[in-house]
This record gives sequence, structure tokens and C-alpha cells, in this order.
Amino acid sequence: MTQDELKQAVGRAAISYVVDGEIVGVGTGSTANCFIDALAAIKERIPGAVASSEATRQRLESHGITVFDLNEVETLSVYVDGADEINAAMQMIKGGGGALTREKIVAAVARQFVCIADASKLVPVLGHFPLPVEVIPMALGHVTRELTALGGQPVLRTGFVTDNGNRILDVRNLRIADAAALETRINQIVGVVTNGLFARRAADICLLGTADGVRTLTAS
Ligand code: 5RP
Repeated sequence: MTQDELKQAVGRAAISYVVDGEIVGVGTGSTANCFIDALAAIKERIPGAVASSEATRQRLESHGITVFDLNEVETLSVYVDGADEINAAMQMIKGGGGALTREKIVAAVARQFVCIADASKLVPVLGHFPLPVEVIPMALGHVTRELTALGGQPVLRTGFVTDNGNRILDVRNLRIADAAALETRINQIVGVVTNGLFARRAADICLLGTADGVRTLTAS
């Protein structure tokens, strides 16, 4: 199977986690897009969705799926999203598409986080993928210096502005021995909106697309 076929398989598999009659939280990226396309086939069973980015909002609306503002809902039964990396503890690096802050907010409201990923995303240790950090523009110099002091090599994502009007630093070479501690540490830097470590709110399950089919993983 190709990587695209694996993404389509996990997108379809995640439909079984959607609760009839309830609004679903939807992530961002090519794998999340596969979920959105599968969701279109059952859209009559749900009131609609909350989107984690403008791109996701547009794709949902293009399928005729109603998009709710997050402030209109108190809780979501499920949030479905992809990842750039996921480990056996279900901790992730996200934000390759730059939507990390809204993704983290929607995930925080959801009772269950279902990560959908092709097999290439499962890693023994997080950090090969550069860690995205969303930064208030006036703080870019300060945050760059602070991340460098932590041992990272931050690089400004050129030509990219987030849905929140901010910039992204992609940080290479971070030692991520304790993902939850590093997530907290980076978020304490003044000017950081959030970073792409999803360790404090990890996924509850991962639907992993493999050549042998979709595997369901939980934290080990
Ligand atoms: C976007 C994300 C995506 O979930 C992540 O980048 C994975 O994307 P894809 O499914 O295209 O590989 O965090 O901000």
C-alpha cells in the first residue's frame, strides 16, 4: 500500500470513534483530510464539527459539514488528528502544518484523542522531526535565543504565518528525554504561544496504518 492509501485507511477507521448525534473535533493535515472525506459519508449522523484550522474549516464546509465555533461547545466526545511523530506512550510532535495551537486547544476540550497516522510516524524517541514552536512575531529574537540556550537549533519557517497571525520556529537537535517536562519548559518562554509537543495531553489511542492493516495502539 502507498502512504496515501495508509492515510485513507486510518481516516476511514477513525469513523468508528465518532459518536452519533455529537459534534466531532477535527485536526489538520493530509491524514486529517482523509478523515474529513470519510466523515462526509456519515455527515447526517452528526450535528457538525469543530475545526482546528482554517484549512480544515474549508474542507469540512466543502463537504457540507456544519462547522461550530469551539466556544459554542462545552465538551467534545472525540478529537481526530494526525501527527508528525508518535511514540509508544502516545506522546506526539505535531505542527508540521503549522496548526499546533488550535489543535492543542481543540484536543484539550475532547474526552478522547484519536491519532491517525501511517506507520512512518511511529518512532522510539521523539525529536527527529523538528519541533514546531508558535511565536508572537515581536518575540522571535528572544525566543530564538532561549531555544538555542536549551540546545536547539531554531529556524524560522519562511513565508508562513499561522491562522493566529504568528510565526513558527522549527527547532532541530533538541534532546527530548522527558517530553512533558520539555513541553512545559518551552511554553514558559515569554513570547511562545505553544509548542508542538503533545505530551501533557497525549493521544488516547493511535490508529496506525501498516501494510498488514490498521493497528490500534494504546500507551505502553
Ligand atoms: C498540522 C499537524 C498534522 O497533524 C501533522 O503535521 C501531520 O500531518 P500529515 O497528516 O499531513 O502528515 O500537526 O499542524
